[in-house]
Amino acid sequence: MIDLHIHLLPGIDDGAASPEVTKLMLERARDLGFRTLVATPHLPGPLNDRYQARVDRAFDLTRELAAPLGVEVRLGFEAALTPNLPHRLERGEPATLGGSKAVLVDLPFGAWPQHASETFFALQTAGYTPVLAHPERYADVQRDPERAVDLAARGVLLQVTIGSLAGVFGKAPRRTAEALLRRGTVHLAATDAHSAKHRFMAVPDGLERLAEIVGEAGVERLTVPGPRALLDGGVVPPVPLASPGRVGPLGIVTRLIRRPSASDVPLPVRPRRGQSGERGQN
Ligand SMILES: [Fe+2]
Repeated sequence: MIDLHIHLLPGIDDGAASPEVTKLMLERARDLGFRTLVATPHLPGPLNDRYQARVDRAFDLTRELAAPLGVEVRLGFEAALTPNLPHRLERGEPATLGGSKAVLVDLPFGAWPQHASETFFALQTAGYTPVLAHPERYADVQRDPERAVDLAARGVLLQVTIGSLAGVFGKAPRRTAEALLRRGTVHLAATDAHSAKHRFMAVPDGLERLAEIVGEAGVERLTVPGPRALLDGGVVPPVPLASPGRVGPLGIVTRLIRRPSASDVPLPVRPRRGQSGERGQN
């Protein structure tokens, strides 16, 4: 599998806090069946030289840690969707995913920006493919999933977070992710992991729930050919709802993942409402 969205670089954002955590995340990703990871540190505004230099150093170190594990790591960003983002990209800011023309963007969770539609369109006009990170986690989409369905109809790719399907962020994101999947408007699935804890621990359950909705072939498309095509500049169609007859035993899912055993990982801890943890991270 390919993880297009992971906060893997040590000491850069609210993701991996140290090289030790990065190493643990790499091992966990490998054990779950991920072979390519696109490290996506947050990019809240224009990429300045100082941040770029820090990211480059952390990326070099991460690749050194990943090489013995047989895991490929590429560099990307999770860029805040700001009105000037299309212009910045056109001026050469390397804020895309792994050097592709795809741009992973996020929005404020609480307030949908008025410029969003216009900025998505400007990105497309400039030749970029916008990928909206975790649509199921935005309050406006939870209230009205059609907001994200409309974006998908206009060519914006939707990336759900696998842990959302396992309830890591609560009921509303889970229900919204399921609604978007049932509408056949989801293109990609990723961990958006910030550490080696909850979001990774939820991957097996999240993939199983995904398989119940889009079938095993759908899970594979969301995590293998979909992200591969995106990185290669190809077309990424949304994954359709599985027909009832095609939802079979979870052969592909269980081949894709190796569940962490009780001996090598701590028990998953579901954070309670109001408790700090990954749940509050972007
Ligand atoms: Fe993220």
